[in-house]
Amino acid sequence: MVSTVSAIESLANGQVRSSIRALQPQLVAWRRHLHQRPELGFKEQLTAAFIAQKLTDWGVRHQTGIAKTGVVAVIPGTRPGPVLAVRADMDALPIQELNEVPYCSQHDGVMHACGHDGHTAIALGLAHYLSKNNDFSGTVKLIFQPAEEGPGGAKPMIEAGVLTHPTVDAIIGLHLWNNMPVGQMGVRAGALMAAVECFRCMIAGKGGHGAMPQQTIDPVVVSAQIVNALQAIVARNINPLDAAVVTVGELHAGSALNVIPDTARMSGTVRYFKPEYEGYFGQRMAAIIRGICQSHGATYELDYWQLYPALINDASMASLVRSIATEVIETPLGVVPECQTMGGEDMAFFLQQVPGCYFFLGSANAAKGLAYPHHHPRFDFDERVLCVGVEMFARCIEAFCR
Ligand code: NI
Repeated sequence: MVSTVSAIESLANGQVRSSIRALQPQLVAWRRHLHQRPELGFKEQLTAAFIAQKLTDWGVRHQTGIAKTGVVAVIPGTRPGPVLAVRADMDALPIQELNEVPYCSQHDGVMHACGHDGHTAIALGLAHYLSKNNDFSGTVKLIFQPAEEGPGGAKPMIEAGVLTHPTVDAIIGLHLWNNMPVGQMGVRAGALMAAVECFRCMIAGKGGHGAMPQQTIDPVVVSAQIVNALQAIVARNINPLDAAVVTVGELHAGSALNVIPDTARMSGTVRYFKPEYEGYFGQRMAAIIRGICQSHGATYELDYWQLYPALINDASMASLVRSIATEVIETPLGVVPECQTMGGEDMAFFLQQVPGCYFFLGSANAAKGLAYPHHHPRFDFDERVLCVGVEMFARCIEAFCR
């Protein structure tokens, strides 16, 4: 068993070209600047202005204000060829940061707790590098996207035409990943992240005295049966070889121990990988809720919607990224193919339009206390991977645009 420590040492001396390694202090400075000024989805004004200023300084052609706060830069190579897009998300989360670091969030109640500050810094590093090293065939489009954490900036950016003029042939992107140590990358063909669907349901019964249930229709009992029965969709309806989750995350009813309430409310999320299940969970859920409510004489209102589709990587793009990751990382821990997660990502919308590959760049370092999960108020990552991200993208461009 190879220790994480040796993997980190190997990475520290890893396959990052000197001109990109030289960017590392700036990558850290940009990331910390952004970390101190986190902004929620579609409110990334300071972030977009920071990006635009850097691109202007480097003479990189770009457009701002796409889907409110998105920025798109276009960097042509010296010869004609394909168009490869690189996507980075920019938004933060409504979390109060608990880290005590000099670069702590200065915006109360808002925090870069998912690493999107790092994604933006990596894409800026790539823009800086390409502005001086454009000896490739084709064009690189850098997409700085708002609101990944919801309600989603990818779809409005596509609707605004970011995949045209010039038409994008393929797309790549990465997520810093604290579920993996520094020195690992996750690259997978096919489904990497799950479809995200959401529901809200209101159950209406008939309230009354807690000692006289015969005069009531108890929405608490009805809700309890619904919560249990919904679990049977995954257990009994879905092919056991397919993965899926039904989670009821909220259940609210009542206000006193001896009162049967009139109504109950619940909400939750559904996750799965296979696109053929699109629409299926909503139908099954409605049928189950309808049946249970009918049998008790209760009524219901159900809202069910898809937030993001499943994120599906193209097989040949994934194999290109995997071979490059193997060159860059050069450690025995290496490149992990089994890295699926039930988390969702709106990069999925881009991958529905053009072939591409989204991958995980391991960023945890437990020895330094940098291993909190994403969306945790103490989340932080090992910044040494920033230049590795730039190197990955630079090599992908060189391989794709040759
Ligand atoms: Ni994220």
